[in-house]
Amino acid sequence: MTIGTAPTVESGEREAALTDSQFPGSVVDLFCGAGGLSHGFKIEGFKVAAGLDIDEKCRFPFECNNDAPFLLEDVGEIDAAELSARFLPGIPRILVGCAPCQPFSKYSQGREDGRWQLLEHFSRLICEVKPDIVSMENVPRLHKFRNSSVFDAFIRTLRNNDYFVDWKIAYCPDYGIPQSRSRLVLLASRYGPPGVPETTHDQDNYPTVRETIGDLPAIPAGGADSDDPLHRSSALSPANLDRIRASQPGGSWRDWSDDLVTACHKKPTGKGYSSVYGRMGWDDPAPTMTTQFFGFGNGRFGHPEQDRAISLREGALIQTFPRDYAFVPEGNRIEMKSIGRLIGNAVPVDLGRAIARRIRAHLDEHNQ
Ligand SMILES: C[S@@+](CC[C@H](N)C(=O)[O-])C[C@H]1O[C@@H](n2cnc3c(N)ncnc32)[C@H](O)[C@@H]1O
Repeated sequence: MTIGTAPTVESGEREAALTDSQFPGSVVDLFCGAGGLSHGFKIEGFKVAAGLDIDEKCRFPFECNNDAPFLLEDVGEIDAAELSARFLPGIPRILVGCAPCQPFSKYSQGREDGRWQLLEHFSRLICEVKPDIVSMENVPRLHKFRNSSVFDAFIRTLRNNDYFVDWKIAYCPDYGIPQSRSRLVLLASRYGPPGVPETTHDQDNYPTVRETIGDLPAIPAGGADSDDPLHRSSALSPANLDRIRASQPGGSWRDWSDDLVTACHKKPTGKGYSSVYGRMGWDDPAPTMTTQFFGFGNGRFGHPEQDRAISLREGALIQTFPRDYAFVPEGNRIEMKSIGRLIGNAVPVDLGRAIARRIRAHLDEHNQ
């Protein structure tokens, strides 16, 4: 079978056998993307009721893997009654969302990006829809953004609306995710303090790049595996091929001889960018996957030993998407840029699972 373009039928059939009341809760996912966060809830037994996003490319992967409708809607404009109607009746209503992280991330470097206001729309929808449980995920810098005023206002709104709130900065390897990503995870509940997701790993057993992608077939830069269209890597120019051959695991362009160093890194302004053009190390977690992880020059995204950047499949596995998670219909052209964006933007599925497990335990603690 071709990997990664076919629907996950088996789990869908199993789920169809359950009646609505047997699910621990129904989940509506704002900013759903390709469905990384939702899929974590699905695996943990929740019913994903709908996902919303403004990017039409999310429709296929979201619907195909989560057995739930995708709504092409702007969170800034959606009507609360329309959203409310999506939850299943009679079971806890869980509203989850990971608003675009770019306005809060260090890469925006203080540039004003109006999308931070989407978090205010998230608050508005919570007040109007009144879900039983809320989960919000974003980059850690969110809680410092604008002297913490945006995050503080979000929490204040929740508390003023009778929610108990807990949050933490979650380090992904602590949840068995092979990636040194940190994320702010906030949970809110109407029933009592929800707690935060319990860790499952520590530094003695963090998952590694080798365990995650070490068994994939070798491919050249610009090549693809004939059995798995997603195991495809970007082409490299002759100069970049020379550069990756000179690159070290965990290193950067600083390992190269002078003739390989690009003009921009020779300038005083470029010298600070030391975490680009490196290879991953086999025996460590990978660096944080971004929307551009498939480009050698965009981070430490070189394969540990093959002379290429990691493939889309490798990025998806590092984001803990199951191997059969379909991103495009079978036979469709694989667009590196749009699929890379869906994968890099996702909440790692296993972080979604950890959030879902905490919510499930919390619902049990409160007999819901
Ligand atoms: C960080 S990603 C979410 C990833 C997703 N939760 C997952 O796990 O795969 C943010 C998403 O917000 C979407 N987005 C941006 N502006 C939006 C808006 N105004 N309304 C709805 N979605 C929006 C983007 O298209 C992107 O897919």
